[in-house]
Amino acid sequence: MHIHNLSEENSILNSFISEIRDAHIQTDRMRFRRNIERIGEVLCYEMSKTLDYATKTVKTPLGESATELYQEEIVLCSILRAGVPLHNGLLNYFDDAENAFISAYRHHKHDPETFEIIVEYLACPSLEGKTLILADPMLATGQSMVATFEALKPFGTPKKIHLVSIIGAQDGVDFVDDNFGKDTHLWIAAIDQTLSDKGYIVPGLGDAGDLAFGKKLQH
Ligand code: URA
Repeated sequence: MHIHNLSEENSILNSFISEIRDAHIQTDRMRFRRNIERIGEVLCYEMSKTLDYATKTVKTPLGESATELYQEEIVLCSILRAGVPLHNGLLNYFDDAENAFISAYRHHKHDPETFEIIVEYLACPSLEGKTLILADPMLATGQSMVATFEALKPFGTPKKIHLVSIIGAQDGVDFVDDNFGKDTHLWIAAIDQTLSDKGYIVPGLGDAGDLAFGKKLQH
């Protein structure tokens, strides 16, 4: 897998990441969502440099201009619910993309430390021959990303796969590396070293879904 860890280079992205991690700034839910969206836009911009392009000529009021435009049919797939602001950020740039949504949550059967991923809701167009961008803001164990990809298989075989995350744990990055093909790209804004006993990224930022949308009752 090609891993593009954008934190290896200093940029404005550092400010957005710092704000979503900051426990004080996190209390502003709208700012949290908007920063996730801005990070999605930056990741999208970097990813766009690797797409296939072809020349298209447009008429200006004064003449003609030949421009290289991307040629890939993109499907954005996000994991509910934390993926929604990240999805918006990607869609802000890939404005003609098709969209897929899937719900995946951790079901703790016996104790808080062990869980299985339950996929319930799935809405997806055909993926055959298209470029699939699979977005999950927190790549903790990597199990949601892999379970989602398994659930998408009946919808066709994508030509290219890009995974997009905001913060990952090294274990999660290793897990997706083991479970996706070597041509898959991972675009990620930061990689942290550890996971807590409950499967949270440390230092991470906490629960991205709760921070974006408010706390939920556990089931
Ligand atoms: N999901 C989150 O929202 N945060 C984590 O740290 C891990 C998974």
